[in-house]
Amino acid sequence: MGEVITITPTTGLVGTVHIPGDKSISHRSVMLAGLADSQVKVTNFLHAADCWSTINCMRAMGVTVEQDEEGALTIAGRGFYGLREPDDVLDAGNSGTTIRLLTGLLGAQSFFSVLTGDASLRKRPMARVITPLTKMGLTLMGREQSRYAPLAIIPAKQVTGIEYDMPVASAQVKSAILLAALYADSPTIITEPLPSRDHTERMFETFGVPVTRTGASITLEPVQKLTAPELINIPGDISSAAFWLVAASIIPNSRLTLVNVGINPTRTGILDVLKQMGADITVINERWSGREPVADISVGSSQLKGITIGAEIIPRLIDEIPVLAVAALFAEGQTVVQGAEELRVKETDRLKAVTLELGKMGAAITETPDGLVIEGPQQLNFAACYSHHDHRMAMALAVAGMAAQGVEIAEPDCVKISYPDFFAVFSGLRQD
Ligand code: S3P
Repeated sequence: MGEVITITPTTGLVGTVHIPGDKSISHRSVMLAGLADSQVKVTNFLHAADCWSTINCMRAMGVTVEQDEEGALTIAGRGFYGLREPDDVLDAGNSGTTIRLLTGLLGAQSFFSVLTGDASLRKRPMARVITPLTKMGLTLMGREQSRYAPLAIIPAKQVTGIEYDMPVASAQVKSAILLAALYADSPTIITEPLPSRDHTERMFETFGVPVTRTGASITLEPVQKLTAPELINIPGDISSAAFWLVAASIIPNSRLTLVNVGINPTRTGILDVLKQMGADITVINERWSGREPVADISVGSSQLKGITIGAEIIPRLIDEIPVLAVAALFAEGQTVVQGAEELRVKETDRLKAVTLELGKMGAAITETPDGLVIEGPQQLNFAACYSHHDHRMAMALAVAGMAAQGVEIAEPDCVKISYPDFFAVFSGLRQD
């Protein structure tokens, strides 16, 4: 892929898309398998840059990860106390999930380690994990009063369970605490302001660790070992499916079947919102992939209408707001996004980036401190836009371009972070 890609408009998207593996679940599968003492096979793993950052970090601590021709992984864990001190700095690349989850896992180990990442990751807030982990008796330090990576992690002496009220709904923070809590000398109770994705809790259960949920609180008892399943089949990522859900909704004459989409209720805010906007979406073939629910989804073109997306649903669609902003530009009336200030600390400030880049195409979109106000429907023009080196920005801009007058996207290769085949899949679905 070059430094710039030009997306030309299409008259329709038709076909079947096999949705690539879920990024969140892929990370967790490698981390937990690395702590087990038998082999785990992982199928439909997301072979994208973020998940490879996790593989490389776990390999640096002695975990063996092999890949067959079909892309399935075989992971030979080192046992619950078997990770070894990495020789060098661990590089989480662009991946917030890798660095934040590893703070919890590494904080509880009896060896020294250092975690860093790319320029974007080194600007993202780390105090949110360091604060609760410090309460657990762990010692982590970072730049600027421990607000940013690189992070130095001192060998743990003792890990203490805590009761913690999370100030933000964040699955990464929750998971960092839960990973450290596995090694604690007493139970940990975490309370969330709003439910965030629960893949860690579900995967803990898959590895024989019971997690109890009572209302907004999660309780974890420490363990001495993890019991690995023989096979983990990763569901498709609804956050990747989201681009096709929106594209097929707003491009006339479209009909797509999205195969193997994870429909964990902590992730399906995008389905609820698009349906409320009037989208033609049918969920079929519901089934289980381990402890995660999956389904196929049929989506066709329809006239959307604007709605208000309130704070309480944000954690269930946190990564989908850039593409939902595109949907809103094609909807009748105003769409308002509220309570989404967390978007300012993602791979880029997504509220700012969405407003700036879609604005270049002529969109009437206004940034508010915690969200967006979007007026639809809009006549969008061809424009030269920038991905901000953010995978979800690049794909959202591509969807806007394919549905309108085309778009040029600078630095499109960041799609490798979560959906390396995105542009190739688009070429296969377009009808012109
Ligand atoms: C993720 C949690 C979310 C999400 C990210 C993946 C995870 O981040 O935005 O893409 O795998 O736990 P926060 O926990 O910071 O909200």
